[in-house]
Amino acid sequence: MNTLILGSGGREHTFAWKIAQSPLCNKLFVAPGNAGTAQVATNLSIGYNDFEKIAEAVLANDIDLVIVGPEEPLVKGVRDFFQSREELQHVLMVGPDAHGAMLEGSKDFSKNFMLKYGIPTAASQTFTKDTLQEGLQYLDNQRLPIVLKADGLAAGKGVIIAQSLDEAKTALSEMLIDAKFGDASSKVVIEEFLTGIELSVFVLTDGKNYKILPEAKDYKRIGEGDQGLNTGGMGAVSPVPFANEKFMKSVEEQVIIPTVEGLKKEGINYNGFIFIGLMNHEGEPYVIEYNARMGDPETEVVFPRIESDILALMIATAKGELSDIELVVSKQHAVTTMIVAGGYPEDYRKGDVIVGYDSVKDALIFHAGTKHEGSMVVTNGGRVMALTGMSNTLERAIQKSQKAAQQILFDGKNYRKDIGLDVLRYS
Ligand code: AMP
Ligand code: GLY
Repeated sequence: MNTLILGSGGREHTFAWKIAQSPLCNKLFVAPGNAGTAQVATNLSIGYNDFEKIAEAVLANDIDLVIVGPEEPLVKGVRDFFQSREELQHVLMVGPDAHGAMLEGSKDFSKNFMLKYGIPTAASQTFTKDTLQEGLQYLDNQRLPIVLKADGLAAGKGVIIAQSLDEAKTALSEMLIDAKFGDASSKVVIEEFLTGIELSVFVLTDGKNYKILPEAKDYKRIGEGDQGLNTGGMGAVSPVPFANEKFMKSVEEQVIIPTVEGLKKEGINYNGFIFIGLMNHEGEPYVIEYNARMGDPETEVVFPRIESDILALMIATAKGELSDIELVVSKQHAVTTMIVAGGYPEDYRKGDVIVGYDSVKDALIFHAGTKHEGSMVVTNGGRVMALTGMSNTLERAIQKSQKAAQQILFDGKNYRKDIGLDVLRYS
């Protein structure tokens, strides 16, 4: 099987690392990739939204399977594009079409979907520029804090948790009138604030069948103790102790089954990942968001725990044959720590030389924002590398991940030293 992975982050390096181990893997490409994917695959310097160039590369390299990493090409319809071209229709793809990707691409769509199929979620209402006054009045009658979400993709920045009525009203006006998040905030979902512990659940579906992948907990804030600005994710752990059998049974019955059934009833032929962001609110699951892809850095702890042939799983997902495959998951604990560039998540440094990775013996190194410059590897993104430690104990997995985060050096390096420590307390 010749495979192309679209994307350039830690998620895609992890996909490539795992697929390269499969006996079914023939040629492996990543577009555009990073310095890490270059170790296990051939990088193609094509942007993941450049569908024409991707199509050319697929035909030129006899690619049988395309796995889409990030949400943007999915929401922009990369699957629909492949289906619309006769010469590309034979190509297998992991990733939903634009309609299915609306689960992530439109918060209003996903809210209506959850309401229609009885999937537990926070109470909400959607407003536009034309209904700003109603929106402001609605806010008058809500409890604080209150959550405002830009409807469309906003690079992870479109959610505002307002602590005061003033802040909420200002945010609503800025989003709807001043287009604070561009087109993405032409609609705003106002939603009740849920308390609880967050959990990321990952489902692989071929449209009919599904497999529940290992769950994970993400650390979103830049600072220790979950302080400071939101980021793409500073670390992750899997498994998560409170995701016990009873809770996961509720998740399956109340969320996963109705989601897969709902997609079917909507006539959406969904072949790909569904990433469900959940709140464990008083022991019951509530959906905070859907994503139409895997999480990053959650992939860096989820995939290393999958013992089944990942390429076989991907092929079955694309072909609608998931029921034929067994998913085997390791009991090991996986912890990943992201090392990030100085300044991230605001303006950050780029081009700093990275050293020390040769001395890392006890952790997996997944590159995110890196590239080659001559014989050197330099920083090329906010999140630079994810270091995954694996062990039979959570404590040891944390130590391995943290040690690797210390060993790798570049100017301005920053990372959280508390990844997994809260989970250690529950277990
Ligand atoms: P999202 O972009 O939807 O993942 O939202 C970003 C973050 O905002 C989530 O990971 C949660 O921590 C928080 N959040 C979103 N919706 C809610 C909610 N209804 N209640 C509490 N926190 C929320
Ligand atoms: N780590 C969160 C995400 O991938 O959306």
